[in-house]
Amino acid sequence: DQTEGERLAELAKRRGFFFGSNGAYGGVAGFYTFGPQGAALKSNIEAAWRERFTVREGNYEIEAPTIMPEPVFEASGHLDGFDDMLVECPDCGTAHRADHLIEDATDVEDAESAPIEEVEDLIIEHNLVCPQCQATLGGEPVDSFNLMFETNIGPGSASSGYLRPETAQGIFVEFPQIKQYARNTLPFGVTQIGRAYRNEISPRKRIVRTREFTQAELEQFIDPERDEPALDEVADITVTLYSARQQQADDGDYIETTVGEAVESGLIGDGWIGYFIGIAQEWYETIGVDTDRFRFRQHLSGERAHYATDCWDAESEVDGDWIEIAGFAYRGEYDLSKHAEYGDDEFSIFQEYEESKTVERAVVDPDMSVLGPKFGSQAGEIKTALETLAERNPDAFSEETVDVSVDGEIMTVDVEETNFHIESKTVNGEHITPHVIEPSFGIDRTVYTLLAHGYREDTVDNETRTYLSLSTKVAPTDVGVFPLISNVEQLVEQAKDIVSELRAAGLSVVADDSGSIGRRYRRQDEIGTPFCITVDRDGIEGTDPDTVTIRQRDTGRQVRAPIAVVTELIQSVQSD
Ligand code: GAP
Repeated sequence: DQTEGERLAELAKRRGFFFGSNGAYGGVAGFYTFGPQGAALKSNIEAAWRERFTVREGNYEIEAPTIMPEPVFEASGHLDGFDDMLVECPDCGTAHRADHLIEDATDVEDAESAPIEEVEDLIIEHNLVCPQCQATLGGEPVDSFNLMFETNIGPGSASSGYLRPETAQGIFVEFPQIKQYARNTLPFGVTQIGRAYRNEISPRKRIVRTREFTQAELEQFIDPERDEPALDEVADITVTLYSARQQQADDGDYIETTVGEAVESGLIGDGWIGYFIGIAQEWYETIGVDTDRFRFRQHLSGERAHYATDCWDAESEVDGDWIEIAGFAYRGEYDLSKHAEYGDDEFSIFQEYEESKTVERAVVDPDMSVLGPKFGSQAGEIKTALETLAERNPDAFSEETVDVSVDGEIMTVDVEETNFHIESKTVNGEHITPHVIEPSFGIDRTVYTLLAHGYREDTVDNETRTYLSLSTKVAPTDVGVFPLISNVEQLVEQAKDIVSELRAAGLSVVADDSGSIGRRYRRQDEIGTPFCITVDRDGIEGTDPDTVTIRQRDTGRQVRAPIAVVTELIQSVQSD
């Protein structure tokens, strides 16, 4: 008996959805090629995502390079913190992800957040062995392994670069340009759909954990003091969720609630995250995710990525496992302030006040004719340090002397010589570093979920029929067109004309005249084609001239319709 995953993989390969890449060279784990049906399904999912998260939200889509120079990832924290735990088998040399080994073989649920020493102890305590060769892993060191693929930019090794591990960094790094396009006005959202690369220690579950995959990410930039999400638009959407608060109480379970109630009761602590959870729920439903096999779970504090102060996952159930298909993170000002610190550009936005304000500020205006002779060549740097200190900590000037550090040396200056005073000033705004809320979707995992949730079997003519009940929004082929009998020229010609008309209207069509009509229906059923059109004799010279039959995939029901309305009919069902 096949598992759900095995059945899917077999269908995916046979019908051109996806298969392991580089087969002619033995294959490389963690890389998959999408075949014609898979590539079309994936591209339809991306189009549906773009329609909802870019166009309907009024956001800006960009396309940044997938290779970025090393300093970007020094700033972002990925060079230091984007690691997984690796344990190598002493006998066969296979590298394993230590936390996955533990989670797969024991009841321990969140080994990923445990410190390395604890993970080493868990391997010993549970007598874990290498799944490949059964050698004992207890006592082997667990190492941190950075997941980024490194490369050289240009000849030589002087300029290191990395393949981006998330599309998000392209958005953050280009923020100084994008904010100008957005006329320096918050809030605005920036989206990007593209490849991300992670040198996963143990790729698994086919296209669920690969080394090259597609993300669709939205970075929502806000002024946390002023910008509010349109919560009323999502308040009534029902979601199944499990917050950190419930998990910590350890007596709860997933609950069904509305986004409005969850935000009001504090189960979802941040309104923006609530807003995106709401539209994500609705979007997943429209593309065909089974809502009974879909839920949201908040991360416990130890699970969160280095940049996040709050994070929720959208999870779907496939093959008896729950997999993370999207993440909703509150990244605060982490990324923009890091790039401001490491990069050479302005990552803040000047926010104008509605009314200008009079503010008091501390300033110094040191007498250089005194500081110069006293401190010599360091006088200029001391002046700058005093100015910064006055801005940041005016209280330091309440004593008779004040200390500043220059090149690591503490210098003491008489406050009188600094000419410290408080000035009133009228200001009409301030520089703020926007906060970021990030919904991040894995497209490959969405493909996998839709195939799994759409997979159906029933009995037709005493035979088991397999079909994919895909939504018309994403189905890779819109319509199959067949002449009932393939050697009758009139039928073949009529079918060809219909194919041309449908294709000219932008529909994706499979024309098939080989094998029995039943076999042809089965082939379309297996790739989830919502409609099949059959041209028969009755529709040419019989009682119903210029008609065809249209068969609906899930029910197998057929109706006769005039050829003249076929294209319009299929298009209207698609846009429902
Ligand atoms: N910018 C945030 C970010 O990258 P993430 O949770 O690491 O967050 C977001 O990734 C989504 O990307 C995940 O929810 C998942 O759907 C997808 N993803 C992550 N690693 C993947 C992998 N190795 N293979 C396929 N998809 C992956």
